Amino acid sequence: MPSILDPFQLKGLQLKNRIVMSPMCQYSVTAKDGKPNDWHFSHYTSRAIGGTGLIIIEMTDVEPDGRISDYDLGIWSDEHIEPFKRLINACQSYGAKVAIQIAHAGRKAEDASIPVSSTSMAFSKKYKQPKELTTAEVEQLVFKFEEACSRAVKAGVDTIELHGAHGYLIHQFHSPLTNQRTDKYGKDRSLFGVEIIKAAKRVLPNTMPLTMRISAVEYAENGYDLNYSIELAKRYMEAGVDMFDISTGGESDTGPSVAGPGYQVEFAHAIKKSLNIPVLTVGRMEDPHLSEQVVNDEKADLVSVGRGMLRHPYWANEASLALGGPPIIARPLNAGFSI
Ligand SMILES: Cc1cc2nc3c(=O)[nH]c(=O)nc-3n(C[C@H](O)[C@H](O)[C@H](O)COP(=O)(O)O)c2cc1C
Repeated sequence: MPSILDPFQLKGLQLKNRIVMSPMCQYSVTAKDGKPNDWHFSHYTSRAIGGTGLIIIEMTDVEPDGRISDYDLGIWSDEHIEPFKRLINACQSYGAKVAIQIAHAGRKAEDASIPVSSTSMAFSKKYKQPKELTTAEVEQLVFKFEEACSRAVKAGVDTIELHGAHGYLIHQFHSPLTNQRTDKYGKDRSLFGVEIIKAAKRVLPNTMPLTMRISAVEYAENGYDLNYSIELAKRYMEAGVDMFDISTGGESDTGPSVAGPGYQVEFAHAIKKSLNIPVLTVGRMEDPHLSEQVVNDEKADLVSVGRGMLRHPYWANEASLALGGPPIIARPLNAGFSI
């Protein structure tokens, strides 16, 4: 019976435990150029020191106007490689493995003067009207994703997560609500995602798995359901995704009626069972006993903790102690746990 404290292996990715730090934008006002700075360094290395097996660096965008805000990270030039390398190397030095979430916010890019999207419909009245991308512009964006992934590999990541969830650009393309295009990217709504996956695979080493976050269901009226996302995930898996990170929603302001502990576990489990592929579950998983049970029951392979890790940087260590395990904190702090 697997435990969250057990190692996990997927292709060449070897994690010391099954605890993941979920990607979380920092909107750090000191970061305007998309490069991680001292804030990000302290933030991510603390979670590495705290025993986290896999750290997923927040949404990192493929072009400046692909960011939600001007204070988000990006990896649109070779100059971004070094600052990411410093951050990634430091996290790895504490035994954590590091992923980066490569993304484009599309019509949810709030600081872009004219955001771009699969559609010209705004996200809501509070958002700007996006420009609908031409077919050639979509093809260009696929190339930007490829370059971003290539730079992330050069910066030393252990794996890459593509952000296909929460109503951002890839999600905008695969959702019938926001893709009524008549070109090839509308005739096949998963094509944009599929091309990005194939582009990522071209630049990832063969041994490096590719992860993708998707929203398993939409909450808006007429939003897609789990059957739709299983078919979508199948396409993405066939294109090269090795593991899914299962979230929900983000396509509209509507959310789940209840978002209690483990509220997205059943979606992750359904996709795992249907496609026989490893999955991460996320969403109020901060009770270590709940996380342990979900992994024991093989409903998910890895458990991702977001806000719980904002509150408790050493959440992984606390979880190990709560489950009767040893301290898994960086060695210099071990003295805090000896009798
Ligand atoms: C401050 C903040 C920023 C977030 N940024 C991202 C992000 O960059 N990418 C993403 O996929 N999800 C993002 N999320 C969602 C989290 O990764 C996670 O899925 C969500 O918070 C639910 O998990 P939790 O209940 O453990 O917090 C963010 C959440 C928070 C609270």
